[in-house]
Amino acid sequence: MPPDRWDDLDSEETIEAIATALEAGGHRVTFLEGDATLFDVLRKVNPDICFNICEGHFGDGREAQVPAILEMMRIPYTGSQVLTLALALDKPMTKRVLTYHDLPTPPFQVFERLDEALNPDMEFPLFAKPSREGTGMGVSAESIIHNEGQLRSQLRRIFERYDQPVLIERYIEGREVTVGVIGNLRSPVAWRIPDDEEAPRILRGLHFFPPLEVDMAAYPDEEAGIYTSRIKVEMAHDFHCLCPAPLRADQIEDLEWLAAATFRVTGCLDVARVDFRLDAHDGDRPYILEVNPLPGLNPGYSDLCIEAAADGWQYEDLINEILNLAAERYGLA
Ligand SMILES: Nc1ncnc2c1ncn2[C@@H]1O[C@H](COP(=O)(O)OP(=O)(O)O)[C@@H](O)[C@H]1O
Ligand SMILES: [Mg+2]
Repeated sequence: MPPDRWDDLDSEETIEAIATALEAGGHRVTFLEGDATLFDVLRKVNPDICFNICEGHFGDGREAQVPAILEMMRIPYTGSQVLTLALALDKPMTKRVLTYHDLPTPPFQVFERLDEALNPDMEFPLFAKPSREGTGMGVSAESIIHNEGQLRSQLRRIFERYDQPVLIERYIEGREVTVGVIGNLRSPVAWRIPDDEEAPRILRGLHFFPPLEVDMAAYPDEEAGIYTSRIKVEMAHDFHCLCPAPLRADQIEDLEWLAAATFRVTGCLDVARVDFRLDAHDGDRPYILEVNPLPGLNPGYSDLCIEAAADGWQYEDLINEILNLAAERYGLA
């Protein structure tokens, strides 16, 4: 296994912080490991609701496995459901859904074999990443590719290391911004119905945290302006960001609109974070990279928690609001 194999799993520090926050909200909390023991343990503990942060270990739907078990056992849980979690783990599948809805995401091609030809409309520079990883796994300065030779060596590296299809996208040079969303859409929602440029943007039910920009200038040139696995893991405790990101009101409005539309078309519930790049060669036009329906919740360095703090929310407020949103959906409030 590659050394970064489990980088997207949560630390004990995060788990303890969430438990403490829930207890401060007046709840009794038991930590359950999201492994094969879960089925039996759940029977014994018999929780009213689960606060799900489980990333899972194996399989192309690993983030959806705990929710699938909980649904089988009819136990309520926070956040997005099985289909959304499996979809969002798979970046190409997510991009197909976004593209269907005319939401801007970089043009792409998926490689399943080393000898597949590059589509003629895919122009260098390109960007390579594993299709189904997170936390910057497999993402480094070498992910930016300028020619056929680099393309083939990146494909080989990712196949060998991660044993899954490789997502090749147009490289978007520019600022890196992420938008946290909390809430649930109330219809008619986040889509112009009918699809009319003049119709109002309806975002009812969602709350947007101020966008966070990764402060690339604070990192060594070797990171090449990319939010690499090194920044996300090795340097996580020394994270440099601008939050709120220095953006104009109209830019923020566009990002919120795109985040809401992404939230809707991928079927998110309660909370999500949508990652963007702003194309420096096209007037900072936003491109959606991915949606994270299980955003990191470390109180110290996770993007969503930093955004919530910039919005005046205590960590306890954020965690308990996610719980309350779910409880409300299940009629438990
Ligand atoms: N098409 C792209 N163009 C430029 N940079 C990209 C592109 N895709 C990903 N990146 C960089 O790689 C980082 C990780 O990619 P992302 O798709 O968000 O995966 P994850 O966060 O799950 O590892 C992004 O935050 C960004 O810095
Ligand atoms: Mg990301």
